[in-house]
Amino acid sequence: MTRSLPLLLSLLLMGIAFAFTTNPPYELQIPPSFGHRYTIPEDNPLTVEGVALGRFLFYDSLLSKNNTISCSSCHQQALAFTDGFNLSIGVSGRPTFRNSMSLANLLWVRDFFWDGHSKTLEAQALIPMDHPDEMGLAPEKSAQKLQQTKFYPKRFQKAFGTNQITPKLMAKALAQFERTLISANSPYDQYLRGKYTLTPAEKRGLDLFMRGSNPDRAIRGANCAHCHGGAQFFQNRFHNNGLDASPLDPGRQEVTGFEEDFARFRVPTLRNIALTAPYMHDGRFKTLEEVVNHYSDHIAQSRTLSADLRGMISLTSSEKKDLIAFLHTLTDREFIRNPAFSNPF
Ligand code: HEC
Ligand code: HEC
Repeated sequence: MTRSLPLLLSLLLMGIAFAFTTNPPYELQIPPSFGHRYTIPEDNPLTVEGVALGRFLFYDSLLSKNNTISCSSCHQQALAFTDGFNLSIGVSGRPTFRNSMSLANLLWVRDFFWDGHSKTLEAQALIPMDHPDEMGLAPEKSAQKLQQTKFYPKRFQKAFGTNQITPKLMAKALAQFERTLISANSPYDQYLRGKYTLTPAEKRGLDLFMRGSNPDRAIRGANCAHCHGGAQFFQNRFHNNGLDASPLDPGRQEVTGFEEDFARFRVPTLRNIALTAPYMHDGRFKTLEEVVNHYSDHIAQSRTLSADLRGMISLTSSEKKDLIAFLHTLTDREFIRNPAFSNPF
């Protein structure tokens, strides 16, 4: 008994070492300014094989009813993982209810979708698979399809130690891949590190973006950072940003049931915003000019309008140009060209 203990222990250690060499943990590069306020579910740590599998699944149209639509159809890397449409088109040919969302820095997002109705990436991933206007195939069915391939069972084996493909494991792999989609190397980030010099227009735009206006001290500001502030340029909060006097989409209210959440939507990221047109939950604005005109001159008053948008900011046309010049500095070319995020097939 005592003699077999060291043997057992060394076998155990070898087993652990083996597990790590065949599927080592995936090391996320967390930008220091982004902080560590994120959670990765304990039962789904990132591994090299898990992330690789998730990337295959993300780009595989086998997951759809008629083998034509993959996640990447509506989330294209060149467009910072959006699709360029006001509403997306999936297997049914009918438009989706809302505009596709960029998939950058999801690690720090707490409530997924425009109205925040999904709590984790694992739960989120199964929703588009099942949705009749997105991929239109029950996840159980796509799991069966994958099971019948030569390609996937061995990859699930490597990633999760079983070749029995289930929706749960598919969702886990997709979530692992999505957590690696970090965008933090735009000219603005380089400016913060002293590696890029903002043009005078970009600098004036930055000041407008960051400041609230203060007429007493003759300070002009557009106050955008109040909501789109912080290193990620988004907030895990919901606001009504004044799109309509009589909003048609109840937004967050559908999730919480609260009156005050009527027509509120999550504050989306402005990283890569020059690439993710058209804008807003319904894709109503085609250009950043239209967006800035909205905030400057056309805020619609309604019951749940954010208090921070009640006064018009009325920017001059050169201020609008400056603000847009700044928004362009948030485009991260490395992110949209990163081979690790591209189609692996
Ligand atoms: C037919 C187009 C379409 C397909 C296919 C599609 N999506 Fe989406 N995706 C959208 C739209 C539209 C939204 C926003 C929906 C909403 O908020 O109501 C969205 C939102 C998301 C979000 C939320 C992002 C955030 O910041 O909250 C994630 C994550 C996501 N999709 C991942 C995926 C994955 C993974 C797949 C494949 C399994 C996928 N999508 C397939 C159109 C699509
Ligand atoms: C009170 C909070 C708040 C303030 C202040 C604010 N925004 Fe927004 N912003 C939002 C919300 C909420 C949305 C999503 C609204 C929707 O789609 O219904 C949004 C959406 C956007 C979008 C579209 C994003 C996308 O992916 O479609 C852009 C661009 C934008 N804002 C830029 C700005 C700029 C520039 C300013 C400053 C002039 C600003 N915002 C000020 C809350 C705010």
